[in-house]
Amino acid sequence: MDWEVFWVENYHIEGGVPLRGEYRVKGAKNSALPILAATVCRGGVYEIYDCPRIGDVFAMVEILNSLGAKTKWEEECIVVDSRNVSEFAVPEHLMAEMRSSVFLMGSLLVRSGEAQIHKPGGCKIGKRPIDIHISGLEQLGFEVGTEEEKVFCKGVCHGGKITLPYPSVGATENLIMAALAGDGDTIIQNCAIEPEIVDLQGFLRSVGFQVFGAGTDTVFVKGARGLKRNLGTPKMYFLLEDRIEAVTYMCAVVGTRGRAVFRNIRPSIINEVIKTFERMGVEVRSCENMVEIWCGKTLKSPGIIVTQPYPGFPTDCQPQLMSLCTKVKGLTTIREEIFESRFTHKNDLINMGADIEICGKNAIIKGTDFLRGKEVEARDLRGGAALVIAGLMAEGETVVKGTFHVQRGYEDLEKGLKSLGGLIEKKREKT
Ligand code: EPU
Repeated sequence: MDWEVFWVENYHIEGGVPLRGEYRVKGAKNSALPILAATVCRGGVYEIYDCPRIGDVFAMVEILNSLGAKTKWEEECIVVDSRNVSEFAVPEHLMAEMRSSVFLMGSLLVRSGEAQIHKPGGCKIGKRPIDIHISGLEQLGFEVGTEEEKVFCKGVCHGGKITLPYPSVGATENLIMAALAGDGDTIIQNCAIEPEIVDLQGFLRSVGFQVFGAGTDTVFVKGARGLKRNLGTPKMYFLLEDRIEAVTYMCAVVGTRGRAVFRNIRPSIINEVIKTFERMGVEVRSCENMVEIWCGKTLKSPGIIVTQPYPGFPTDCQPQLMSLCTKVKGLTTIREEIFESRFTHKNDLINMGADIEICGKNAIIKGTDFLRGKEVEARDLRGGAALVIAGLMAEGETVVKGTFHVQRGYEDLEKGLKSLGGLIEKKREKT
């Protein structure tokens, strides 16, 4: 009997080489996704610069195309022409590819007064419900209905004052967009304050909407129902830098006891991570838009790390930090407060020689002297990045499978690490 053969891409990493050099941080995935969704709010031609070429962005672009937009990649930007968007329903198979398509509820409501999505399922890092999005939309005046996995939304937004029960990043972004559909004004309280929300506000303002207060816990949105639907002239927008990409590379540099300069990263947006590095004994020098790190001495545990909404320690950097802490002196406790099951990388790290114990939300990591290369499997985006870092820190060869998870959020990770001297190749192999 002939077995079907599938081709997959795996990272092959030869560990133990200190990474050195300079890296320019790319545009942020978590800005690109809501801003691409926001191009639907007003018909127009948008040039979005520094947009990362990653799996999640490709999925969002496919959704925009399915709604009637035209998109094309140019050298440094993606061009979205949303003038002919005519659909209001996001196809199920595309929705399944990426949970962030939930943002399209807000932008489609502004454009068409109607939106239909499919409930994004849970993912490897937790259940990830959308109840805060739905109750926020209802409070704004929309009618929201569900039928099996479909969510429909339409009606007139009257605005008003709403308070989120939890500062959800996605719900804050979705509701800012939805509130633009209104006649009246909206005040959203207890918002998330991540820099990517400020970036979305920047984009919306650049195309004529009035949104104020992003980056604080209260956002004011001026209803824009009467605003002309189509923009006359093309708009350019430069995305915020990806603070999580920056920290991922920094962890790889620290993990291999190297030294590197990072350009296009403001230290202020990774402050909590820099403080954690400094507690570990990492040397950090920074100015307005640059961070340099190096390891002068033996690294020690940073103690307790608790993931929190911004400006706290980011959950999206937790797995990478865990890899780092497997090889420093002392005991580290990492408490994951945002997602239920974001320790998917733990078993593979243990297999590589790490000493990790999980007690509920806490991972307790006892530093060891070395990790050994193994065959491991990425099960989610940041967990996969953590395994790549562990591979660079380990003795011998590590093969990381499931690289499509990593490619959802990192553009050419292997090329970037190679440019710093890392011995890593992406190989196409049979399953
Ligand atoms: N939550 C609810 N109900 C909701 C919405 C959220 O219970 O209606 C819960 C979630 O299940 C989770 C917590 O609230 O436990 C935080 O979720 P949030 O809505 O803040 O996250 P998100 O918008 O789904 C964004 C990023 C994530 C990042 C989180 C937290 C994007 C596209 N995604 O997700 O990024 O981890 O904020 O900072 O912006 C990643 O890049 O690897 C990633 C997962």
